[in-house]
Amino acid sequence: MKLLVTGGAGFIGSAVVRQAIGQGHEVINLDALTYAACLDNLASVADSPLYRFVQVDIRDAAAVEACIAETAPDAIMHLAAESHVDRSIDGPGVFMETNIMGTYNLLQSARALWDRKGRPEDFRFHHISTDEVFGSLPADPSVKFTETTPYDPRSPYSASKASSDHLVRAWAETYGLPVVLTNCSNNYGPFHFPEKLIPVIILNALAGKPLPIYGDGSNVRDWLYVEDHADALLTVLTKGEVGRSYNIGGENERSNLELVQTICAILDEKRPGSAPYAEQITFVTDRPGHDARYAIDPSRIRKELGWRPSVTVEEGLALTVQWYLDNEDWWRALQNREGVGTRLGVKVSQ
Ligand SMILES: NC(=O)c1ccc[n+]([C@@H]2O[C@H](COP(=O)([O-])OP(=O)(O)OC[C@H]3O[C@@H](n4cnc5c(N)ncnc54)[C@H](O)[C@@H]3O)[C@@H](O)[C@H]2O)c1
Repeated sequence: MKLLVTGGAGFIGSAVVRQAIGQGHEVINLDALTYAACLDNLASVADSPLYRFVQVDIRDAAAVEACIAETAPDAIMHLAAESHVDRSIDGPGVFMETNIMGTYNLLQSARALWDRKGRPEDFRFHHISTDEVFGSLPADPSVKFTETTPYDPRSPYSASKASSDHLVRAWAETYGLPVVLTNCSNNYGPFHFPEKLIPVIILNALAGKPLPIYGDGSNVRDWLYVEDHADALLTVLTKGEVGRSYNIGGENERSNLELVQTICAILDEKRPGSAPYAEQITFVTDRPGHDARYAIDPSRIRKELGWRPSVTVEEGLALTVQWYLDNEDWWRALQNREGVGTRLGVKVSQ
């Protein structure tokens, strides 16, 4: 299949590109190369005859149209987005432009391409979204997000992603565009940009710096290893039912404090310091509107498509910590990028 993957130079997109090429798909990676992008993530496939990179900003409708018309993919996997909640609090505008209008531009060009191709039933527009569109859950472990949970986004990031989900469904209902949607829980793993919680904790620990935990650390997230997410996405693309959405999660709920303590314990074993790394844990001002709990019920993707994650969170974290220990050149180069290493998303007064 010829796939156009948007956001393929990012964390999850690059995992999708690597796996898709490994499965023999031809891949066009469309990415604007924002601060969050890193083409080094694709070094293992960059010389493959199946791989091609095009630098396009999805906010530029004409450039999107030209790229989709020229490449004429069989399917589009749309991951390009502004993705950091803290940045969305400080500067929501670009989240609206990229996540909402960028998705609109892609939908319009995808629709035009699909029409020109004669409306093939096997064309796919796969929209990759987040569980954050569903809002925040109570502590009761029996309550989880399903595909029918009402939308209740609470940050500028999740509101922009919820809006884009609605656009994709509307283009399916109104124009018949063959879409699939996925809503996934928090990812972690190799190539995770060093502004997100898990890489921040690993790299601060190694540097002897405080390990910042927002609020009291009780916020719960459902963690999924990024390679398992990429596998789920390719499963939904190739086996998912048109018009259907699938929740993807690892059933690995951990509070932020438990997660950080686990990372510290792994580091204590792999790179022992003079004192346990957990002594560096520091509680800092909470994120405004910090959702208490996310948890995915992945029954649909398990039962209908037979997908399940390959690793537990402990196994995945051990792989991840080892990857950061082995790939210092990769993360050092990214630590100089704008905003990385500084606290974002706390100024809400204006
Ligand atoms: N990270 C998670 O835990 C998680 C969980 C569920 C869903 N998602 C979704 O998965 C997708 C990928 O997330 P990620 O963590 O890999 O993000 P990321 O920030 O690592 O990567 C995003 C990529 O999109 C590109 N991009 C941003 N704006 C663009 C624009 N205007 N035009 C073209 N390219 C642009 C960036 O250059 C970057 O390469 C996003 O849609 C996100 O909402 C992420």
